[in-house]
Amino acid sequence: MTLAPNMHSKPLAWWKKATAYQIYPRSFYDTNQDGIGDINGIIAKLDYLADLGIDLIWICPFYASPNDDNGYDISDYQAIHPDFGTLEDVDELISAAHKRGIRIIMDLVINHTSDEHPWFIESRDNKNSPKRDWYIWRDGCEPTAEKPTCDPNNWESIFHGSAWEYDKKTAQYYLHLFSKKQPDLNWENPEVKQALFKMIYWWLERGIDGFRVDAISHIQKQPGLPSLPNPKGEKYVSSFDYHMNVAGIEKHLHELKEQAFDPFNIVTVGEANGVTADNALLWVAEATEHDQGGVFNMIFQFEHMKLWSEEQSNVPLDLVEFKRILSRWQDALEGKGWNALYLENHDQARSIDTFADPTSRYASATALASCYFLMKGTPFIYQGQEIGMVNHQFTSLDEFNDVSARNLIQKLSQQGQSDADILALLNQVSRDHSRLPMQWNAQDFAGFSEVQPWFSVNQQYADINVEQQQKDPNSILSFYKQLIALRKSNVSLVVGRYQLLLPNDPNIYAYQRVAQDMTWTIITNLSPQESIVDIDRMQLGELMLDNQNINNEHVRSDFIATQIAPPYAAYIFARKH
Ligand code: NOJ
Repeated sequence: MTLAPNMHSKPLAWWKKATAYQIYPRSFYDTNQDGIGDINGIIAKLDYLADLGIDLIWICPFYASPNDDNGYDISDYQAIHPDFGTLEDVDELISAAHKRGIRIIMDLVINHTSDEHPWFIESRDNKNSPKRDWYIWRDGCEPTAEKPTCDPNNWESIFHGSAWEYDKKTAQYYLHLFSKKQPDLNWENPEVKQALFKMIYWWLERGIDGFRVDAISHIQKQPGLPSLPNPKGEKYVSSFDYHMNVAGIEKHLHELKEQAFDPFNIVTVGEANGVTADNALLWVAEATEHDQGGVFNMIFQFEHMKLWSEEQSNVPLDLVEFKRILSRWQDALEGKGWNALYLENHDQARSIDTFADPTSRYASATALASCYFLMKGTPFIYQGQEIGMVNHQFTSLDEFNDVSARNLIQKLSQQGQSDADILALLNQVSRDHSRLPMQWNAQDFAGFSEVQPWFSVNQQYADINVEQQQKDPNSILSFYKQLIALRKSNVSLVVGRYQLLLPNDPNIYAYQRVAQDMTWTIITNLSPQESIVDIDRMQLGELMLDNQNINNEHVRSDFIATQIAPPYAAYIFARKH
């Protein structure tokens, strides 16, 4: 099948064709039997990933860190946390991955450092420290029993509680949008940027292939750091409006791109909470002769996920809204930029529980996969998603590890909520669900380690694990493999234009990918009800993959005859023009 390659008739970039896989190293695979995943564990599983069809791996932070936010609080950007291994192990990982044609991108956390980073230690030492202005310090007054908060403003931290921490030594407060051990860097200070860019160079010269750039839409704060309106008289006010995708951020982003990224031929994916389809091109437009374009190759947008809305219980999927959001992204970037496609990551509960039905695990997992994976963009799979890992049932509040969950427990308890209610909420939405050890086999600790792992193991590992699914041609893993292979061998699934069908159908997500010589129709029933699919059958063509009874011709004829899709059914058709 031949097609005009892409938007500016340039060769199709490798990362557009790639399938990406995200690794949370702490929970991936433990080779030195300390109960914690390590870099050698990633190396040990490269053949598994190559066999799955993965071309690109994003690895969450493995740098030196006191682990307040599991590595997103970095105390030395150029050192590896001993839990994970050494710099030599990273070099070995890069070369072992490259040998298999797999590229590696690392997490770049530059909105904040750890409070144990030497820069912050120097900054907090005294008001005249040369690094004082590398972070964001403001006056307030010392909190007392009578006056417990006299913070510089009323911003709430994304991880709950105040966004300010009082530092007795110099009697000032520092800003931390995340945990109090993650002070925000001051991007207005040119020295900060130069130090960060130097560090980025150092990593790129080591041979990594790019970065996923953490929390990057937060680096610009509302000038003057004003308090937010507070009509309800809350102690702290949700402060996203004043630090997320705030005007002026472009200046910093372009410096980052031009000075740190452009000298290298890499791929960059920005984590861009608050960026909408309407303003996405500022972030990801491809450069043209007349326009310098955006900053990143792709971004992770948040509009279809409910990240950071932990206080709101999981609501059933509003499919019409979900389609509207994803289609807006598809349309906005058509011919101009590129999407990163995802349903899971280490900040989300498992997608089967959030979007579908864990009691029909195979159908749910494969329908969700078919739905998001074949849209236009680079698909990312989060570890365990490919075997249909599901949420854990936590039985007590003490079991949660995530700093944000722990802060939320404190906040909700103070507001008078019962432990049972908080547990029920976190059992639906906690980020910890996705951070449990990867389930490799049915042996003790799911084959993740030979010793008790750092975190609970999902109770269902005997039923949900890689080894068992590798043997089963009808497993979720086998379905993912077929999906990946299908996309890899059909460039029309990479370049074809996305076109939503049935926009108002509350149960069916159906769309086409239209290329020069081929039209793909992807039909998924994302509901627990049998649903009629109101699409002209003449448009469909040949059934290439389905989750009903793989490779069984009856599936096609039954579906064509009735146009009835069972709950969580998925059909992928291709029609040659
Ligand atoms: C986003 C990361 O994905 C999340 O895990 C982390 O807690 C925050 N940024 C802070 O770095």
